[in-house]
Amino acid sequence: MTLATGTTPPGVSGEQQAARWVQQMFASIAPKYDFINHFLSFNIDRSWRQALVQQLSPVLASPAARVLDLCCGTGDVLLDLQRVAASRIMGADFCHPMLVSAQYKARQKGFEAPLLEADALQLPLARDTLDAITISFGFRNLANYAEGLKELHRVLRPGGMLLILEFSHPPARFTRAAYGVYSRVFLPLIGRIVSGSAEAYSYLPDSIRKFPRADELSEKMSNAGFIDTRFELMTGGIAALHTGIKSSDRGLIVPG
Ligand SMILES: C[S@@+](CC[C@H](N)C(=O)[O-])C[C@H]1O[C@@H](n2cnc3c(N)ncnc32)[C@H](O)[C@@H]1O
Repeated sequence: MTLATGTTPPGVSGEQQAARWVQQMFASIAPKYDFINHFLSFNIDRSWRQALVQQLSPVLASPAARVLDLCCGTGDVLLDLQRVAASRIMGADFCHPMLVSAQYKARQKGFEAPLLEADALQLPLARDTLDAITISFGFRNLANYAEGLKELHRVLRPGGMLLILEFSHPPARFTRAAYGVYSRVFLPLIGRIVSGSAEAYSYLPDSIRKFPRADELSEKMSNAGFIDTRFELMTGGIAALHTGIKSSDRGLIVPG
C-alpha cells in the first residue's frame, strides 16, 4: 500500500488546493466545531487532550519554556495548557474563524491568548526556538506530512519535544469494525445534521481512513530526525498520542 503523502480532500489536485480546501472547510464549521466535536466523540476527546497535556507536564513546569499549540483550532488544548503551565504558550492555526473562537474562549477565561495566523508548513518562527510543539487532530489535515514534520523539526530547539495527537486505526478486528460503522454511517449523518456541512463530516472519516497507521507515522517522525519516537494507542486505537524529541545531531535529518 502506498502511504499518503498528505491529506487529499475530494475533488482537489495538488497540495495548495488541498490546504485551501481544509482551511475553507474549517471556516465553514468553526462556530459549531466545539459542540459537534464533543458530541460526536461522547466527550472522550477531552480525555485524549488531557493525556497530551499530562505528557508535557515536565516542560510546562518551566517558566522559561516556549510551547506552541499548532493547528490550535478553537483552542481546547491551548486553554488546557494555559491553565496548568508556568511556561509561555502560544497557539497557531491558518483558519481565521477558528482563531476568533479560540480568542473568544480565552477572553471568557480572563486572558488574552497569543495567537499566530500561520500555515504549519511555513511557520514564521526562527529555527531552534521552541521547547515543545503540540498538535492535536490537526496533523492529519496537512497537505504534506513529511514537509510538516520537517518544519516542526526546524522550529524546535535541539532536545525539544513534539507531541502529535491524532486519529488512528484500531488494531482489534471488533473495535475496527464497530468504529468503521460508526465513522462511515453515523458520524457523517449526525455531523451533517448538526453542522449543515455534508462535506466536512464525510471528509473526517475519509481522512482518518487514508491517514498512516501509528507505526507508520512514528517511522515518518524518525525519518524527519526525531529520536525516541513513541506512541500510545488510546480508546482501542481510535486515537494515538505520538511523541518524539528533536535530536541534537543535525546530521540525522533525512528529507522525504
Ligand atoms: C480538527 S481541528 C483541531 C483543532 C484543535 N487542535 C482540537 O484539538 O480541537 C484541525 C485544525 O487544524 C488547522 N489546520 C489544518 N491544516 C493546517 C495548516 N496547514 N496550518 C495551520 N493550521 C492548519 C485547521 O484550521 C483546524 O483548526
